[in-house]
Amino acid sequence: MKKIIGPFTQILPLTGLPLKGALKDEQLHLIANGGVLVDNGLIVETGDFNELRKANPSTPTEEIQTGHVLLPGFIDCHTHICFGGNRAKDYAMRIAGKTYLEIAKAGGGIWDTVTQTRAADEATLVNSLVQRANRHLAEGVTTIEVKSGYGLSLEEELKQLRAIKTASVQTKAKLIATCLAAHMVPKDFTGSQEEYLQHIVDDLLPVIKQEKLTNRVDIFIEQSAINVENALIYLKKAKQMGFDITVHADQFTTGGCAVAVAVGAVSADHLEASGEHEIELLADSNIVAVTLPGASMGLGMPYAPARNLLNAGACLAIASDWNPGSAPMGDLLMQAAVMSASEKLSAAEVFAGLTFRAASALKIEGGILAPGMPADMQAYPCADYREILYYQGKLKPNKIWIGGNDPMTQ
Ligand code: NIG
Ligand code: FE
Repeated sequence: MKKIIGPFTQILPLTGLPLKGALKDEQLHLIANGGVLVDNGLIVETGDFNELRKANPSTPTEEIQTGHVLLPGFIDCHTHICFGGNRAKDYAMRIAGKTYLEIAKAGGGIWDTVTQTRAADEATLVNSLVQRANRHLAEGVTTIEVKSGYGLSLEEELKQLRAIKTASVQTKAKLIATCLAAHMVPKDFTGSQEEYLQHIVDDLLPVIKQEKLTNRVDIFIEQSAINVENALIYLKKAKQMGFDITVHADQFTTGGCAVAVAVGAVSADHLEASGEHEIELLADSNIVAVTLPGASMGLGMPYAPARNLLNAGACLAIASDWNPGSAPMGDLLMQAAVMSASEKLSAAEVFAGLTFRAASALKIEGGILAPGMPADMQAYPCADYREILYYQGKLKPNKIWIGGNDPMTQ
């Protein structure tokens, strides 16, 4: 159905901005007293509210109380929100000063969540995933990438990916699945790391293709997970099979970034340990650098060098990494806002990183309010867009649209 939504005190369509590099707030296109003409779930036009009404006299209006700022819905391009249980024990050990290895030895770490996820049946996984997706949606996140990686066997990875597929029709948030079977070598696999990865290539990826569960493959490249050499071989094979590649890179040590570049990944995520060399590699590539402030907060570690990445000319997206271990909070706006104060990111850079630059990491259209784009939008109860980061995530949107409709009442 055709309608005009407005008036908004400000609309930030985030149009006309470059995909890569630093941005100043002065570059933001602002529409004062704006409206959006929507038809069939897509944006037809944004512009002056009164002009839109005059030009479309018979089109109904969805009236908005004045004092709202409209933005594209956020796109969270990196999460692990399909899991069972929680890791509160890990967190207690971490804040008591225990190291990663000590926590793993005490039965914590990724493997603990694998055990809890395997113990959950598919319906339970679907339910908890839908709840988390709906929470994200209520906070303005309209598209959410969701990884597997807590199954780590043929059946259990398929269970997770099928749960993501089922959940995607039970939530109005748009879910995009990624296979992270290469999260670590499962403790109950009897062969070598090479053999485990070959098992994924031979036995899992073909089923994923056949069932159309995802066209994206991720890996955790780290000494404690999958090493650089094996990662390269695995990712090249996955790419040959037609999968897009994304990489957990440089979280604790470097090496992952170079692999991402070598295989032509769509994104390299984490980057907390990246130095000048890695920053240059990413800036010279078309790979989206995805920073995950929620993981830095959860682990009590420094942020990725977001400012330097932007200054060097990289495309920077910001995602939550929402997962039960390193990033349990899952509040994307709060994380981006708090990081922006430390890393000195402009509002334009933060909103670009949460919208159209994140869309690029997922190879999807969207994240801008422009003709032909899905009318996935969020409105904040404030008069000036700068208030959104100023309140550091505490100011939440009070109206969300998916395809021009309220996803909560449908
Ligand atoms: O992105 N770094 C690897 N994987 C996740 C953490 C997963 C977990 O601890 O459960 C991450 O931080
Ligand atoms: Fe992650």
